[in-house]
Amino acid sequence: MSVLEIRVLGDPVLRKETKPVEAVTDDVRRLIDDMFETMRLAKGIGLAAPQVGRIERVAVIDVRDSHGPLALVNPEIVERDGSIKGEEGCLSIPDVYDDVERSATVVVRALDRSGAPITVEAEDLLARCLQHEIDHLFGKLFIDHLSVLKRRTALAKWAEMRDKYPGFVRRLSDEATERPAEEF
Ligand code: NI
Repeated sequence: MSVLEIRVLGDPVLRKETKPVEAVTDDVRRLIDDMFETMRLAKGIGLAAPQVGRIERVAVIDVRDSHGPLALVNPEIVERDGSIKGEEGCLSIPDVYDDVERSATVVVRALDRSGAPITVEAEDLLARCLQHEIDHLFGKLFIDHLSVLKRRTALAKWAEMRDKYPGFVRRLSDEATERPAEEF
């Protein structure tokens, strides 16, 4: 396994719609394993392929609940209910956090690491994380959900920080190991 570079806001790959995976091959499994390793080193709870510069429709999640680590290939929200606000951050927009309104519960269908179909019924942080990662797979970021004013504030905060990431690349090896909060 290897740790991948994380792409940050400004890299056009984050705005690309991913391509559905046709077959879960060894290449896809290697991507999944590398994404898990990268996410864990970054102390994240979720990571989507565009965040490591890839356009396969793949995400990994581990919110450390009873669902365990989830590898999601071609995930799709098939049911959603309710609405709830909660704080989000993103590994691709480090140190920027804000409240985002999401569906309170979701049901997601996907393929797992072996290519078998799975259904995930989620609430709380897992539901939030699933919606955040599936957004990533369609080129959407959490800041897109903010009001114009809050989005401007978030982008101004990011503008002060983005020089730390030349080429829109975040190298985890250059960072302190202690991250202050959860990002996905
Ligand atoms: Ni994110």
